[in-house]
Amino acid sequence: MKASQAKLGALLLGAFLYLPLGVGAQQPPAAPAASPPAASPAPAAPDAAKPAVEAAKPAPVAPTPAAGSTAVPGWNNPPQDWDRVDRKPQYASVPGRETNVLIQGSGHEWRKFRNGPLTQYGGWLMVIVLAAIAVFYLIKGKVRLQGPRTGRLIERFNSIERLSHWTMAISFVVLAISGIVILFGKYIVMPWLGHAAFSTVTIACKTVHNFVGPLFIFSLVVMFLLYVKDNWPNAGDIKWLVRLGGMFSKSHDEVPSGRFNGGEKAWFWGGLVFLGLAVSITGLILDFPNWNQGREVMQQSNVIHAIAAILFISASFAHIYLGTIGMEGAYEGMRHGFVDETWAKEHHALWYDEVKAGKRPERITGTATGAAQPAVGD
Ligand code: HEM
Repeated sequence: MKASQAKLGALLLGAFLYLPLGVGAQQPPAAPAASPPAASPAPAAPDAAKPAVEAAKPAPVAPTPAAGSTAVPGWNNPPQDWDRVDRKPQYASVPGRETNVLIQGSGHEWRKFRNGPLTQYGGWLMVIVLAAIAVFYLIKGKVRLQGPRTGRLIERFNSIERLSHWTMAISFVVLAISGIVILFGKYIVMPWLGHAAFSTVTIACKTVHNFVGPLFIFSLVVMFLLYVKDNWPNAGDIKWLVRLGGMFSKSHDEVPSGRFNGGEKAWFWGGLVFLGLAVSITGLILDFPNWNQGREVMQQSNVIHAIAAILFISASFAHIYLGTIGMEGAYEGMRHGFVDETWAKEHHALWYDEVKAGKRPERITGTATGAAQPAVGD
């Protein structure tokens, strides 16, 4: 079991380690020599049917790409010096927002930031978080139950709570993977599968991303409404957070908490609410360019969307880790709806006391011998 967990960890870490390395490996190619070699193909061959004078003209020489541009020599290369480009609005008889702006100044700054620091630091952040979790797992191992299971089961999440969680989790993972391809695919998929496959994969990812986004937003709202009542912060949460739940202490003694502890509440308010709102609002602005927003608003939304998504994905690694291989018994609660009494007592003592005292809606089922088990998926 341990060996297979270690293998899985190594596999995931390896895949993510490639992210920033791929970006680094794709640093702008050195600009080619000012005048391309005579043998380099011109984009348009002289037309044989043209009059003799025109046909005798030398073939047009393809311009060299600007430093930092990945375009191959051709006719649509960006100018060498964007700062000298006239960015003033011009006259246009076509009505509509920004139809008189042919070259929009901040587009260049946006492109440099998105393809530069955003991708590079964002990639590293995800890799570092994954590596830190892997190191933590190798040193500390799984947080195991300290006492024996009693076999008595306590309802942790009802079916609606689980359905909303899994809808959100699955749509989040689909958005995360497709978003990573959109942001990093040029550095990972393109060198690996080539231009044509990269294009097909990225167009597919973009379409999936556009349609799954609204489903994620819907599940986020439902999840918020269902879970907010047990996520109100209290003084005990600060104590829990200061001690990080006792996760780093030798005895693993947790600060007693209600249904959700300080860490889970931080994930709820910081992740689901704050980062969820940030990606949702900016995502809708990007999904619907027909709302008459200008290009600058789209660029700003894109940057906020990507930063919030990278933070969200990085934080989700810790949540997914604790919800699966990091803590014994946690996944059972979200998968089947029930946790063992020992798990409830050790991780959410105040909540356990309330359930036992009949002050909460959750059910206690089974006997001390473990005879009555809830049906899987109940
Ligand atoms: C895809 C992998 C995921 C797994 C395996 C997973 C697993 C779990 C588990 C086991 C619990 C129950 C913890 C407990 O009993 O206290 C839980 C709760 C929760 N999960 Fe997830 N989860 C995943 C993804 C997500 C995502 C993407 C989000 C947010 C966008 C999320 C938000 C929550 C919230 C808000 C709770 C309730 C605790 C609280 O209110 O803070 N989960 N998850």
